Amino acid sequence: MRVLVVGGGGREHALVWSLSKSSLVADLLCAPGNPGIQELARCRPVAVDDLPAMVTMAAREFVDLVVVGPEAPLVGGLADALREAGIRVFGPGAAGARLEGSKGWAKSLMAAAGIPTAAAQSFDRADEAIAYARQLLAAGTGVVVKADGLAAGKGVTVCDDEAQAATAITDALDRRVFGPAGSRVLVEERLAGEELSVLAFSDGKTVLPMQAAQDFKRAHDGDLGPNTGGMGSHSPVPSCTPDVAGRITDQVLEPVAAALAAEGEPYVGVIYAGIMLTPDGPKVLEFNCRFGDPETQALLPRLASDLMEPILACTDGTLSGVRLDWRPDACVAVVAAAAGYPGTPATGAPISGLEGAEALTGLPVFQAGTRPGPDGSVVTSGGRVLAVAALGDAPWLARRRAYDGLAKVSFDGMWYRSDIGPRPGFEAGSAKGGLG
Ligand code: AMP
Ligand code: GLY
Repeated sequence: MRVLVVGGGGREHALVWSLSKSSLVADLLCAPGNPGIQELARCRPVAVDDLPAMVTMAAREFVDLVVVGPEAPLVGGLADALREAGIRVFGPGAAGARLEGSKGWAKSLMAAAGIPTAAAQSFDRADEAIAYARQLLAAGTGVVVKADGLAAGKGVTVCDDEAQAATAITDALDRRVFGPAGSRVLVEERLAGEELSVLAFSDGKTVLPMQAAQDFKRAHDGDLGPNTGGMGSHSPVPSCTPDVAGRITDQVLEPVAAALAAEGEPYVGVIYAGIMLTPDGPKVLEFNCRFGDPETQALLPRLASDLMEPILACTDGTLSGVRLDWRPDACVAVVAAAAGYPGTPATGAPISGLEGAEALTGLPVFQAGTRPGPDGSVVTSGGRVLAVAALGDAPWLARRRAYDGLAKVSFDGMWYRSDIGPRPGFEAGSAKGGLG
């Protein structure tokens, strides 16, 4: 088959790499791709948000299957447009992508399906939102304020007091910070516990969970500093025991799939559940409508079976016949960021040592904020520049190998967290997780 991957970040590099190993893939394209992806796929200079150009290109190139990486084109209806053009696509239509595109809509769906999640209400008036925040604070729970729409992972403010909540609410509703994504705001009870990401394939009837992963959202060691798009990831997650995994499948993934099916259109793609393991059990923080970034960079190196099997089965409605095989190894992926990130990043710095890192880890360095430089070189072009991933038959070995690989890479202003991996106390544990 000729397969087109839409996107150009680290997640898409991992997807392209995994698909490039499939015996079912004869030809790989990626739009827009990046220099790392270029080594595995033919890149086409089409922006992910140029929906008509993407559909035209896919048709002109006789693409058999499109795999959509990022959320924005899914929320914008790319999968619908491709299906209308008769092209097979892995990714939900705009209706299903509301799971991520509107936090308020996702909350209503969860409430109707009885899915455990934080108490929350949706508002378009600041005074009412602030009053509800005050009520939550008085009840002793902290408050989280979320812009309703897509905000590139930056629409969430965890607030310690009413003043902070009021600022976050008025900022969002004034559209000063998040534009139209903040025209409604969700005020939510703050949950405490360990976070994990569980991604599942969905064909509209069956859900097939992948193993759990963890994402490190804060900029600095010890989960300090501002939120980022993710500074690293690892899989499996030792605290996701078979019992916890079973509860997540039964209480979250199966019910959300059933609720989506009841909406009338098969949800084909990945359902990503961001979960907090609270003392009262797993609760949903958010749903996303696609593979996680950087979770995918730590998950796909562990997938022993062919990624095309579940993807094709999702598009055919035959997922119930598929099983996933995982290597027992752990995988740790560490992101290297550019100076200035998560604010405005410095760009244009030459990157060295990619081959040395790849020789050491045996995996591609997953590129994200990179572009071609002079004479075949690669230079930085964004905040999260790349991720070095490594496998190991114990989590600490995967971690050491990833950091050894990262030590080979350098560019001006490069920085990274030094604590990516299972949290202390779990490093020596078994690499076997409970899902999939
Ligand atoms: P989201 O984009 O909704 O996953 O939120 C981004 C991050 O904010 C999450 O990964 C959590 O760390 C934090 N967060 C979101 N909702 C809550 C909540 N209800 N309680 C505590 N932290 C939260
Ligand atoms: N790693 C968080 C996300 O993909 O949204």
